[in-house]
Amino acid sequence: MAEVALEDVAGRVLVEHALEAARNAHAPYSKFGVGAALLLTDGSIIPGTNFENASYGLSLCAETVALATANAAGRLRDVVAVGIVGGSIGPAGLIDQGPIYPCGRCRQVLNEAAQMGDRDLVIYCASADGSVMRRHTLSELLPHAFGPGDLGIG
Ligand code: THU
Repeated sequence: MAEVALEDVAGRVLVEHALEAARNAHAPYSKFGVGAALLLTDGSIIPGTNFENASYGLSLCAETVALATANAAGRLRDVVAVGIVGGSIGPAGLIDQGPIYPCGRCRQVLNEAAQMGDRDLVIYCASADGSVMRRHTLSELLPHAFGPGDLGIG
């Protein structure tokens, strides 16, 4: 039997939760749904989805929504990994366009959780059909990050 890395299983579970969250995307303007799911130290999962606004610039990304939810539960320091999935919203769900990566602002917001928890985060970027899942670390996606540590916080 082929060996399955436990971490990949965790990634797949996160991506499943992210896909589920993306079903609730409020994205009538871009028609692009994004789901994110955070894994916490105790194994619990916090989902998020993008939340757009008629005043376009006020739109919130899925990752940021999930991180703010973790913070509201007092768990910002406990985030260890995130799964992200997205695609144009079609009649039967997200249309697969390959894996999507967190935007620059979300990388910075993820870094807040990473530095407050004093750990690098694992980031799983997946395609909407589940056929591709890429494992990265936040330090790869946001090298030389500026964060709370630079302000003596954390
Ligand atoms: N979006 C996210 O939710 N996360 C990202 O990392 C990239 C972009 C959302 C914002 C907007 O609602 C839609 O995708 C199209 O940009």
